[in-house]
Amino acid sequence: MSAVSLEHVSKIFPPRAVGWAGLFKKSDRPGFQALNDVSLTIEHGEFFGLLGPNGAGKTTLISVLAGLCRASTGQASVCGHDVVTDYQAARRSLGVVPQELVYDPFFTVRETLRIQSGYFGFRNNDDWIDEILSHLGLSDKADENMRALSGGMKRRVLVAQALVHRPPVIVLDEPTAGVDVDLRRSLWEFISRLNREGHTIMLTTHYLEEAEALCGRIAMLKRGQIVALESTQALLARTGGSLEQAFVQIMNTPTGHSMENQL
Ligand SMILES: Nc1ncnc2c1ncn2[C@@H]1O[C@H](COP(=O)(O)OP(=O)(O)OP(=O)(O)O)[C@@H](O)[C@H]1O
Ligand SMILES: [Mg+2]
Repeated sequence: MSAVSLEHVSKIFPPRAVGWAGLFKKSDRPGFQALNDVSLTIEHGEFFGLLGPNGAGKTTLISVLAGLCRASTGQASVCGHDVVTDYQAARRSLGVVPQELVYDPFFTVRETLRIQSGYFGFRNNDDWIDEILSHLGLSDKADENMRALSGGMKRRVLVAQALVHRPPVIVLDEPTAGVDVDLRRSLWEFISRLNREGHTIMLTTHYLEEAEALCGRIAMLKRGQIVALESTQALLARTGGSLEQAFVQIMNTPTGHSMENQL
C-alpha cells in the first residue's frame, strides 16, 4: 500500500456560469483541463518533489488528494484510502499546508491549533502543539491573535495546523513563499526530521535548489501532464547540471502531443 496513489487522474474545471440563468443550465462553452491523465505513486517515507511552472496543475493535484476538488476521471488514494469513497480515513492520513494564506482572525494561535486538533478528535493535544510551536519559532506568539501576526508568521501557523493530527503524509504547497531565511532553515530541519521519523513528504516549490537538496524523487508537471518522474540523482545525471537546468531543459522540450488545455 503506497502513501499516495493517483491513477489516470484528470480534472476538467467546468466553464464559468454567465449570469443567474447560467447557474441552472449546462454551458456549451469549453471547460479547462487542469490535469490530464496523471498517474503517480509515492511510497511511504519518501521526500517527493512536485515541480512545474505557474498553472501547471500542482495545487489542483493536491486539492484532489485533499478532497477540495473532485477528479473528473481516475482514482486517488492516501495510505490506501480512496479520497472519495473512504474520505474520512484519507483526510486523517493527510496534512496539507495550503498555498494561500487562510486563517480565522478571531482566534489566537493556540486556539486555532486546538480547534484544528478537535476536527480530528484530539482533545488534549497541548504537548504536541507546544512542540510544533517551538520548532516553528512560534512559542512566544501562542497567545497572539492571528490577525496580529506578520505574513510569514501566519504561514508558520498554517504549517503547524497541517501537523496537529500527526498525519503520516504531509503535503506542503509552496510553504516557503514569503518566509525569511531563519524559518526556511528551521522548517526544513523540522520537516526533514519528520521524514526521518517515517512521515512521507510531498513538496511543491519554485525554489529548485530547495527541491534539489531535499527531494529523493521528483515529478514535473507541464500543462496538467507529467513530463518527468524519476529520482533526483537520475534526473540530474540525465540532464547533466543543476535541477534548475534540468527544469528549463524539460519544460522547453515539446511534449510530443502539443496539448491545448482548452477542451
Ligand atoms: N476553480 C478553478 N476553476 C477554473 N480553473 C481553475 C480553477 N482552479 C485552477 N484553475 C486553473 O487550472 C490551472 C492549474 O492551476 P493550479 O492552481 O493547479 O496551478 P499550480 O501548478 O498550482 O500553479 P502555481 O505555481 O501558480 O501555484 C490554472 O490554469 C488555473 O487557472
Ligand atoms: Mg499552486
